Amino acid sequence: MKAVQVTGYGDVDKLEVVELPIPQPKENEVLVKVKACAINNTEIWMREGAYGTNSKSGWRPEGVQFPRTPGSDITGTIVKVGSTVNDPMVGKDVVLFPFTSSGKEGTEHIAEDMSFIGSEYDGGYAEYVVWPAELCYDMPLSDYTESAVFSVSGLTAWHMVEQIQVQPYETIMVTGANGGVGSLIVQIASNVFGAKVIAIVGDLALKDQLKELGAAHVLSYKSDNLAEEIIETNGGPIDSVLDVVGDALFSTSLHVLKKGGKFCTSGSAGGQKTELDFRTLYLKHITLYGSVLGTRSEFKRMLEVIAEGKMKPVIDRTFPLEEAKEAQQYFKNAGKLGKIVLLP
Ligand SMILES: NC(=O)c1ccc[n+]([C@@H]2O[C@H](COP(=O)([O-])OP(=O)(O)OC[C@H]3O[C@@H](n4cnc5c(N)ncnc54)[C@H](OP(=O)(O)O)[C@@H]3O)[C@@H](O)[C@H]2O)c1
Repeated sequence: MKAVQVTGYGDVDKLEVVELPIPQPKENEVLVKVKACAINNTEIWMREGAYGTNSKSGWRPEGVQFPRTPGSDITGTIVKVGSTVNDPMVGKDVVLFPFTSSGKEGTEHIAEDMSFIGSEYDGGYAEYVVWPAELCYDMPLSDYTESAVFSVSGLTAWHMVEQIQVQPYETIMVTGANGGVGSLIVQIASNVFGAKVIAIVGDLALKDQLKELGAAHVLSYKSDNLAEEIIETNGGPIDSVLDVVGDALFSTSLHVLKKGGKFCTSGSAGGQKTELDFRTLYLKHITLYGSVLGTRSEFKRMLEVIAEGKMKPVIDRTFPLEEAKEAQQYFKNAGKLGKIVLLP
């Protein structure tokens, strides 16, 4: 089969198109013919070794075993099952839950042995992938590409919204709102949980599209008066911030939060280190949340909502699998809207 492997830590030259044997499913696994695989920042940081704080590492502290086939947002058709998989699964179109874990229901995303497809296991930058049968779910939409764009971004977005218990009467600011995660947070917070969303983007040319996704207001992080604009737009300080950009908007976020407000972060696309004046935190009684991925039951709830049409796939562009290098370079561009998808 054709696959794209990461051969070591480095730039896009570490991505190589290779021919590999088709993997064979273990007893509890299925073989999936990959139809679409959306790109996430995680495989770019995995290749760059950007997860480490002191030395280069992968998603897990022990680092990545190279060569590794990246890719975690996978849809496809089951073409073969392992010996203990009873379910008549062959021929089913599925979306893959992206990690294994021994963690109990509800804590699987924070278990120490959480292991990620495309990082600890070979992933979807390939024509075939093997994966545990119990982690394959029915595709929520009929289209493979559209169904592939929710797995990691959507699960992360869904978890953040549930984690801070968004309420219908609240105002939520979403940073990185045109990105893969942000464009789904906007939809979940507004269309599913009924909150008023202030979406923060760079390019205000995206305003109409963000409003169609459910944003009540769209503002630009390029404004010199962003904090004032947010407070004025809302008629006062806001309830919560759901953040994926980190340093770039951290002080603005703390400034616009009401007393007792919540700040939840799952990413740092705009800078990984920041300065914090502790006085802001305690005098405003702010709660900070760190967030990574989500649980299997959240994934199932999200798939139901997608099937009901309350969350739409937001796809910026597709690339053929062989152009994974170009696709990962394109992913880093500012001003895109939604997800980039590789098609084998
Ligand atoms: N914790 C988890 O489980 C998890 C899961 C998925 C992703 N993530 C993380 O979440 C972050 C976003 O991922 P993504 O897939 O949504 O990426 P993406 O599609 O590339 O979107 C990035 C977003 O961040 C914005 N941004 C970048 N630099 C900024 C800056 N200096 N100031 C303000 N906004 C800025 C971008 O705006 P422009 O388009 O204007 O540049 C864009 O809206 C990444 O750090 C990723 O690693 C975490």
